[in-house]
Amino acid sequence: MRAVVVRTFGGPEALEVAEVPTPVPGPGQVRVRVRAAAVNPVDAFVRSGLATQVGMLPERDSVGVGWDVAGTVDATGPDVVGFAVGDEVIGLSDRLDIPVGGYAEYLVLDAYAVARAPRGTSPELAATLPLNALTAAQALDLLDLRAGQTLLVTGAAGAVGGYAVQLATGEGVRVIATADAADERLVRTLGATEFLPRGVELSARVRALVPGGADRDSGVDAALDAAVIGVRALDAVRGGGAFVTVRGGAEPPPLRGIRVHNVWIRADGRRLAELVGLVETGRLTPRVAETFPLEKAAEAHRRLAEGGLRGRLVVLP
Ligand SMILES: NC(=O)c1ccc[n+]([C@@H]2O[C@H](COP(=O)([O-])OP(=O)(O)OC[C@H]3O[C@@H](n4cnc5c(N)ncnc54)[C@H](OP(=O)(O)O)[C@@H]3O)[C@@H](O)[C@H]2O)c1
Repeated sequence: MRAVVVRTFGGPEALEVAEVPTPVPGPGQVRVRVRAAAVNPVDAFVRSGLATQVGMLPERDSVGVGWDVAGTVDATGPDVVGFAVGDEVIGLSDRLDIPVGGYAEYLVLDAYAVARAPRGTSPELAATLPLNALTAAQALDLLDLRAGQTLLVTGAAGAVGGYAVQLATGEGVRVIATADAADERLVRTLGATEFLPRGVELSARVRALVPGGADRDSGVDAALDAAVIGVRALDAVRGGGAFVTVRGGAEPPPLRGIRVHNVWIRADGRRLAELVGLVETGRLTPRVAETFPLEKAAEAHRRLAEGGLRGRLVVLP
């Protein structure tokens, strides 16, 4: 089969299409004929070699790229329950010790990492769900907010941030979002009640919106820092609140008794199935900026590096 691999780490040109053995599903695994694979920031991290440098990936001669996919189950291993050949699915590979990733014609996934694809949604839109919507959901779990509480979401126009805004507001949380000034309408459409353009004095502006009271200081109950701005987002959280970053090693100090977390994506097919339900009822909106054939994966990475995307890039194997 054809798959995108990296043999020599570097820029987008390091991505090459290679002929590799078609993977065989083992016990509890399904093989997916990939229709669409999302292009995520972590893919550039893997391609550049930084993921290997920091010990996130084992040293190997050839590294696969891509974490989440949409496609059709074309083979099942022993002991697979709940999925059969022909099922339209989405899923996430959070195993790093495999030689191919999602930018490939076939991908073997653990059945527990797979969910039925959302009905009425194209494979390219569906492929953008697993990594980023699960990360947003798992980050919100760490924050443990109740309806009526307040949340600051940074990078709210991005993939993780956008899903976080929708998931939080869907649970009755009041969301203050920050993104580029041009994103205000988008972010409000996702459900944010307050919008602050990037570049403003974030902590002061958030505190003015959530002034506190006799029993607590000002600031939001929690922040989800999808733009990785660190202490500037933490400073907008009230004492004793909660903060979650999406980048390990970028945690600000737990000042003023704030619980500081780092979310790490965990494949979870059951949770993913709940998120699929939210897509089907219009409460979660996958967004695609552009699609590329497998051979043009390097072009997709060049586009990713330019930034300013509003929607995911997707590779179509
Ligand atoms: N830990 C995990 O398990 C996990 C899982 C998934 C993703 N992640 C990480 O999460 C981060 C976000 O991923 P993503 O896919 O959502 O990226 P994305 O789609 O590029 O979104 C990031 C957004 O933040 C915006 N931004 C940058 N600086 C900002 C600022 N100062 N204020 C407000 N907005 C700002 C960006 O705007 P511009 O495009 O205009 O710069 C972009 O809209 C990445 O670092 C990714 O690696 C971690």
